[in-house]
Amino acid sequence: MITLRQMSAPRWTAVFLLLAALCCLFVPAVTVKHENFKKCDQSGFCKRNRQFADDVSASSSWTSPYVLDPASITFEKGQLNAIVLKAVKEGEEKARLPLTVTFLDSGVARVTLDEEKRAKGEINLRHDSKARKERYNEAGKWALVGGLKVFEGAALNAEAEQGYTKVVYGKGGKHQAVIRHSPFGIEFQRDGETHVKFNERGFLNVEHWRAKIEKAKEEEKKEGEEEKKEEEKKEETQGEDESTWWEESFGGNTDSKPRGPEAVALDISFPGYEHVFGIPEHATRLSLKTTKGGDNAYDEPYRLYNADVFEYEMDSPMTLYGAIPFMQAHRKGSTVGVFWLNAAETWIDVTKKKNTANPLALGLKGHTDTQTHWMSESGLLDVFVFLGPTPQDLARQYGELTGYTAMPQSFAIAYHQCRWNYVTDEDVKDVDRRFDKFNIPYDVIWLDIEYTQEKKYFTWDPLTFVNPDKMQKQLAKRERKLVAIIDPHIKNTDNYPVIDELKKKDLAVKNKDGNQYEGWCWPGSSMWIDCFNPAAIDWWKGLFKYDSFKGTAPNTFIWNDMNEPSVFNGPETTMPKDNLHHGNWEHRDVHNINGMTFHNATYQAITERKKGELRRPFVLTRAFYSGSQRSAAMWTGDNLAEWAHLEASLPMVLNQGISGFPFAGADVGGFFGNPSKELLTRWYQAGIYYPFFRGHAHIDTRRREPYIAGAPYTEIITQALRLRYQLLPAWYTAFHEASTTGAPIVRPNFYVHPEDDNGFAVDDQLYIGSTGLLAKPVTKEGATSVSVYLADSQPYYDYFDYTTYHGAGHHTVPAPLEKIPLLMQGGHIIPRRDRPRRSSGLMKHDPFTLVVVLDKDGNADGTLYLDDGETFDYQQGAFIHRRFNFDGVRQVLTSTNLDTSSRTVKCEKYLKSMEKVRVEKIIIVGAPSAWKNKAEVTVMEEGRKESKRKQSFPLEYHAAEGKKAAWVVVRDPKAWIGRGWRIDFGDKAAGHEHHGHEH
Ligand SMILES: *[C@@H]1O[C@H](CO)[C@@H](O)[C@H](O)[C@H]1NC(C)=O
Repeated sequence: MITLRQMSAPRWTAVFLLLAALCCLFVPAVTVKHENFKKCDQSGFCKRNRQFADDVSASSSWTSPYVLDPASITFEKGQLNAIVLKAVKEGEEKARLPLTVTFLDSGVARVTLDEEKRAKGEINLRHDSKARKERYNEAGKWALVGGLKVFEGAALNAEAEQGYTKVVYGKGGKHQAVIRHSPFGIEFQRDGETHVKFNERGFLNVEHWRAKIEKAKEEEKKEGEEEKKEEEKKEETQGEDESTWWEESFGGNTDSKPRGPEAVALDISFPGYEHVFGIPEHATRLSLKTTKGGDNAYDEPYRLYNADVFEYEMDSPMTLYGAIPFMQAHRKGSTVGVFWLNAAETWIDVTKKKNTANPLALGLKGHTDTQTHWMSESGLLDVFVFLGPTPQDLARQYGELTGYTAMPQSFAIAYHQCRWNYVTDEDVKDVDRRFDKFNIPYDVIWLDIEYTQEKKYFTWDPLTFVNPDKMQKQLAKRERKLVAIIDPHIKNTDNYPVIDELKKKDLAVKNKDGNQYEGWCWPGSSMWIDCFNPAAIDWWKGLFKYDSFKGTAPNTFIWNDMNEPSVFNGPETTMPKDNLHHGNWEHRDVHNINGMTFHNATYQAITERKKGELRRPFVLTRAFYSGSQRSAAMWTGDNLAEWAHLEASLPMVLNQGISGFPFAGADVGGFFGNPSKELLTRWYQAGIYYPFFRGHAHIDTRRREPYIAGAPYTEIITQALRLRYQLLPAWYTAFHEASTTGAPIVRPNFYVHPEDDNGFAVDDQLYIGSTGLLAKPVTKEGATSVSVYLADSQPYYDYFDYTTYHGAGHHTVPAPLEKIPLLMQGGHIIPRRDRPRRSSGLMKHDPFTLVVVLDKDGNADGTLYLDDGETFDYQQGAFIHRRFNFDGVRQVLTSTNLDTSSRTVKCEKYLKSMEKVRVEKIIIVGAPSAWKNKAEVTVMEEGRKESKRKQSFPLEYHAAEGKKAAWVVVRDPKAWIGRGWRIDFGDKAAGHEHHGHEH
């Protein structure tokens, strides 16, 4: 939450209401402050590298100055080492760039390029800087947690022709890296075909270290501004443009750049791939548009430089709050990708090259290549190459490297109610009571910065939050939680022990001179904790102990905002790049990782609030990087209450999912501005499909809790919330899948149907996990229907009335305001809990409904994952993992165990606690007409006495009507959720024992 205006905290509801009333009089002109943020040509290295690319492209005689020295090659245990020489000026020594290419067990290859002079510290820093001399080489330390096992089977291909080195790698030797020596470049092949090319276009650029040639002092003094410019121009004509090498100013801040120019850049091409996805966070489409010419192109590269870009604009490559430099390219039958492991400011150009069909080459169709150009300000060149071939492979391999999504507490995937701000503890309790009064489910209420005493974190305002304990107790009665905000800026003031300790222990980020950096944020003058420092993390953990942060309770969790970091008076609203972090790394080097170190520290702090209390933390973060998924959820920051923002939230959330950080959502209702009742309602109907589902609003907006809108909106919003709660078992199962395989929680069409060319760019509808549930939220004002794209020939059924949609292509699905367009793809079994409750915590022992949705052959399959939703006991086997299957030939529905681990004590205990939880209803959609006269089914359960094993239960048959499919219901079949069972729907069921066994 942010505006630059400093709001004084409205302490009394009256003031608040007055404010709210006043606000309605104005329609604020909201738009992003472009002048606060750099364009490529205002960011020296981006301008230089883009210009370089243009010059290279324009020249016919030019060749890349990078040559691999073949004599330097060594190859051992899955790793190739060599020196790449960069030709510098005539007569000057070439720059030596150590290259490593590592071939990993997973089939992924990693390429790093360093610079010898900097690595050895043989450079001089200007301005007496204390910064490190090396290129930043610790991004992996924060981002990577595994997947680095080397594939020792990788082997040099002896048949490589002169001038090339080839390495065969990957399981079964399917992959090959073809390393060209002169000019240096690499092609990555799978099954003999090239999928990824490095330096195809010659944009590789490692800005080697050089000393600044200082002009004599006297001369400089005499020089007027005019002359200086003349001088620069002269230098330019002599060769490279030095104007941004040594110093850069933007918005009144000057970056001292003690190491001079040090960018790394590389072109990466995906031949034959028309679509590229990923590199969040941008408010753009899933299939990335081009940035340098082409239809409807952007005129700026995609930027990754975590920043507080409030009121951000739609359809833009502008940077936002988080950065995941992972891109995937997709075409029919193949997905490949690259992960550019660099934490500095990064820009990426995307262009497409159409290759028209050659009429002479029979059978060769025209195709499109996607070409990308990656530019980072500093650090190593460090790139992982993924060769797929499926989107699922990429999700798994990227997840092996950066970690899978943490399994959240079950409350965290239910509904969160937030606003800036609930103004008093009584206000919180009142909102809580109203949700109950209107029978609207919710799990978590949130406190923004105003709960603190004068923006001092770890304190409560004694006038407005008089009794936080009592407030938490009321929430806990219905198993509800509180999330309180804690930001990384610490108020620089007297009589505040937190800042005293931060200073005394010297744990703050430093300025370029090595003194504690002081900037401006919510509290006014502030300092920033440096979570790159292990001692800072240890100290941070102590602050969250219950006896330290008084007024918090086991049901209090934390929101980390402003961690890009946002600095109101800093360049681009963030820290100066020449600030110093632990180990004397410049802020420039670590910027995009900064937010992750902070929310990770908070995550650890929440696990250790009390000895012996081991529960999964919940932390929401605004800034993020690759790896953030291991310890946080994210939201898309400060959006607007406009239809366009609702629409943009879907591709953004989908993109988070395929980029390894799926626990994502957007502020429901829009943060800035007042949504119309229709927009608010539609936003809730869409928000129930965000993995992270929170309503939030700016301090200047009117109250908009779901009970406020009135008829018919409140009722419609309540229905949407109930739908989310009903499907929580399906969501939780999807989270489990994400946490074990890296699969997205909500999935775009291309991920589910990777062979369907027509659906690759579809990003306005989504699948929930592996459930076959296909949602198409309404994002247009006044809409009464939506067009849903179906990729395959399975029947799709309306979730509510079983209307059938058949056939690949677009289908019109009715969507009046009260209707949520949601279809079920045939072939799935969806677990639900149908009893409306006030919070998810109250549903823990509720029975289940299974919706069996038959495919065109009469089969269906599904899974359910369950655990206590709270502790880490699931890691010791305390969970239930079932597979449900309906076999259309045998006409048998079975529940079998997917848990192959041995039964632990924790497991037995958990199963015992779930012993009485049963399946209370089975619905079969698309039921065969042969069941019309069927009166009962037979249920057999594992582990019961023979005499009692078999029981019969009535079956209700509902005939098909018009387009609505036939369905049957079996009520309360005494099938326990934690056990194996079999329900026989076949003709011979009565009295006839089938063979086959379940357990
Ligand atoms: C998160 O915390 C863990 C535990 O201390 C640590 O090993 C890891 O490096 C941290 N990761 C980040 C990204 O800060």
